[in-house]
Amino acid sequence: MKPVQHFLQFRDLDAQQYSYLFERAARIKAYFKNYEMYHPLVDRTLAMIFEKQSTRTRLSFEAGMHQLGGAAIYLNTRDTQLGRGEPVEDAAQVISRMVDIVMIRTFEQDIIERFAAHSRVPVINGLTNEYHPCQIMADIFTYIERHGSIQGKTVAWVGDSNNMCNTWLQAAVVLDFNVHVSTPPGYEVEPERAGLYDTTHYEQFDDPMEACRDAHLVTTDVWTSMGFEAENEERKRDFQDWQVDADMMRVARSDALFMHCLPAHRGEEVTAEVIDGPQSVVWDEAENRLHVQKALMEYLLLGEQH
Ligand code: CP
Ligand code: NVA
Repeated sequence: MKPVQHFLQFRDLDAQQYSYLFERAARIKAYFKNYEMYHPLVDRTLAMIFEKQSTRTRLSFEAGMHQLGGAAIYLNTRDTQLGRGEPVEDAAQVISRMVDIVMIRTFEQDIIERFAAHSRVPVINGLTNEYHPCQIMADIFTYIERHGSIQGKTVAWVGDSNNMCNTWLQAAVVLDFNVHVSTPPGYEVEPERAGLYDTTHYEQFDDPMEACRDAHLVTTDVWTSMGFEAENEERKRDFQDWQVDADMMRVARSDALFMHCLPAHRGEEVTAEVIDGPQSVVWDEAENRLHVQKALMEYLLLGEQH
């Protein structure tokens, strides 16, 4: 039997597969924009398991599956036996006998890895403490729509070395671009946690302004991610100087884009002037979650379509 292809971290797919998926996402987006019905996944069911909150991820997966002709079921920790301690391995056995594909948003990466190891069907990472690969797929697709290939370009990451940062770093290796990272002291990238075997595609900067200099894309994320709320006050103090503002955008290239996966805190990690300004593409990023994930689900279930 062919091994099941999961999408648990960015490097689970290679550059050729991403190239296919980005082209496919553009096609699927065009069908959607033109109200052309496209139902390759009739009778297929997606289970979505949420152990953390979500707006965009739930909506884009649920709407996406519906638009492809299938159905989606929302499960969360509170209302399922997962919240009462049923082993994740048992849940995986059961859930994957009843549906065709699973998306999970959870805490440690180890949880989704264990689920996938016991699943008969493809499992997609909808965010873990370590990674957020669907978001980075959408972000790179958004970059390509605006400026073409990201290969050889420079992405400036300002802020926490969190799930988004780790995934940008993996993507840089797979798709051959560079990341300039600036984190406050004590919050530096941990290559092992980021799943990085190749550290040649990123550079650490003490000064966030220097990280942004000549960048093609400037991006950031919340100072406190879900699951780390107890550190909120300390982080607010530590991250004061890691706010993306107009000065940082000014030292980047004049055509640089600003990205943020959302939800955002204006006045913390980014100023309102930047996120609501002309270089910001945050609404396209959010919308593109829908299109890239439809391409991804189609690919994991049916393979390449021509
Ligand atoms: N960007 C993102 O994943 O948003 P949600 O937390 O709303 O799903
Ligand atoms: N880094 C953030 C992303 C939210 C979509 C978090 O994990 O909370």
